[in-house]
Parts: sequence; C-alpha cells; structure tokens
Amino acid sequence: MRTTVVAPGLTRSLLLWYRRHRRDLPWRGTNNPYRIWISEVMLQQTTVKTVIPYYRKFLARFPTLRSLARAPLDDVLGAWSGLGYYRRARQLHAAARLILETHRGRFPRDPDAVRALPGVGRYTAGAVLSIAFGLKEPVLDGNVARVLSRLFLLRGDPRSGPNAKRLWAIARSLVESTAAPGDLNQALMELGALICAPAAPECTACPVARRCAARAAGVQESIPARRRLRDPVSVHSSVALVERRGRYLMRRRGGSGLMDGLWEFPSLDPMDGRGVRVLSLGRVADLRHSITYRRLRVEVHRARLVSEPRPRDGYRWVTPAQARRLPASSLVRKVLDAACIGGRAVGGRACGGGAV
Ligand code: ADE
Repeated sequence: MRTTVVAPGLTRSLLLWYRRHRRDLPWRGTNNPYRIWISEVMLQQTTVKTVIPYYRKFLARFPTLRSLARAPLDDVLGAWSGLGYYRRARQLHAAARLILETHRGRFPRDPDAVRALPGVGRYTAGAVLSIAFGLKEPVLDGNVARVLSRLFLLRGDPRSGPNAKRLWAIARSLVESTAAPGDLNQALMELGALICAPAAPECTACPVARRCAARAAGVQESIPARRRLRDPVSVHSSVALVERRGRYLMRRRGGSGLMDGLWEFPSLDPMDGRGVRVLSLGRVADLRHSITYRRLRVEVHRARLVSEPRPRDGYRWVTPAQARRLPASSLVRKVLDAACIGGRAVGGRACGGGAV
C-alpha cells in the first residue's frame, strides 16, 4: 500500500470552507454520541431532507439511549415508519440494549467496541467517534469517496476492494493530519453533498479545486466510474380496504423478508391471501410506490370478506388513527391518504367525493 502524504493546506482549506458554508442541520449542534449515532444511521440510506423531521420526532420520543433501549421494539419500528430499511431500526434497538447491558448505558468510545455494535460498520463508527469524541477515525461514504477519488485522481470503482482500501487509507491520513477530525469528516461529506456533485460539480465554488487532480486533468465528471444500478422492476399489486364499524382489516407480515414484522392491508391477490379471501367492491385509487429497485403500481380497492380472518394469522381490525401509528411501510399512509381515510387528503385534494 502506498503511503499517502496530505498537504496541511488541503485540510485547512476544507475546514475553513466547512465552517463558513455548512448547513445548519439538527444534529450539528451537539456532540452527544447517542444523537449523532441516530442521525448517522438514519442518513445511511436516506437523504438529509427526508431525515430531518424523522430525526426530530425520533429524539422527542426516545430522548436518551436508555429510553430507546427500554422501549418495546414495536414503538421503535413505529417511529421509524416511512423511513424504510427497517433493519436499521431493529439494529439500533438491539445496539441500545447491548450498550445498556455491557457499557452501563454509555455509548462506548473504544473503536472496537463501537464497531461490534449491531448495524454499526466502519463508516458509522468513524462518524460517531470523530464527531462526538473528536477521535481521529476516518469516514468513507459515497460522497466522501467521490470527493477523494477526484482530489487524488483514482479512476476505478470506489467500491472495489483495492480502490476502497486506498480511499480508506487517504481518508485516514487526512483525519490524522487535523486537530478537528469531526469537522474534517463532515467537511468532506458536505463538499460531496453541496459542491462536488456526481454530475456537473461546481468546481468554481470549490475550496480545494486548485488541489484537485481530476480537475487538472479535466476528467472530474467521469470520476469515479458510474456504478451500474440495478434495473427497476415494475410490480403490480392491489390492496383491499375491508371496513367493519369504522375499523379496517390489517395484517402483520411474518417471515424474514425486507418488510417482516410490519403491518399492511390484505391483498386482493388470491395467491397472497394468507388465510383470508376478499372480493373487490370497486377500485377507489391508484398509487405509485417505490421500494428499493421495485416500482409498484398499487390499485386500492374497497373490498369485502369471503372468509373470516383468524387473529393467529396476524390479522387485526384497526381504526385509521391506529393504522397511521402502526409500524408500517409508508405505503400504508399513502393508501389511507389516497382513499381519504382518517381525514387526510393528499395534495390539497378534497376528501369525500368518490372515495370509500
Ligand atoms: N450524511 C451522512 N452523515 C452526514 C452528516 N453528519 N451531515 C450531513 N450529511 C451526512
């Protein structure tokens, strides 16, 4: 492995720029490791804009690590509903319990102990340790990998083994060269988010453009090489709104798939009946919804039961207000909104006409 020598001017320029231009984000005013950890886990697969309201709500509900550890998993999944990738919420909860049991409720500051927590990889560990504790631990996410690949003219896919190893080594030497590791790591993330965009980077506003090897070679737009995304797959599905005395039939998914443990409406598809059969009384809405690479077209039907559901198959009758609070994919709320159930219409559309 080549050693990387970082010019002190590079880290200085990054820090000066960051301190002037950073966004005022709700997790930036604290060095509480619990709060920073929550923000970093939420930001792993979700944009800053989406994360902000969830972050505020989650911390109002679970203000301390102890409160998270002591909460039932369902409450945690409920607060996560709509953020997607629910494994993150399960692992947060498991990690909070582990910290309570093995670290007396204090977030560990030993890098090995942090990396041993469920759901905490090298990136999250580096972010929390540097931002909360000021330790010289590096971070490398998509944004940082792009910034460093351009600065140091690394042409290959940053995810491939040797390139990733080289990028981690550069990130480490950068963070080791500064007295402000948390700010430096966030400067790299922020530069990637605001200036050094994947397409059309704004080099004229970049504090380190003069030091950027990709720019000097005029190849900044083609570095790093684009990853081929998985082709989207179209999926058709239909959900059944079965109502009885103001309550709707919902079921809890079993199994170990992506959405296990989350609540959903029954399906009209006889192959997906799980113990009940329903008959459509008419379509009331059409929706689009994306889950990772799947593009769902969802028909929402009012429906009636042909067979009676059994609670042991995971069915329950719930009010619209309860349905909005259950741990569920954001599709459930979209269905309720589209069908004007529970008093909310989407996009200013009036409820009442033509709905359920
Ligand atoms: N993405 C991941 N971590 C972040 C942070 N701390 N600030 C802004 N964006 C981020």
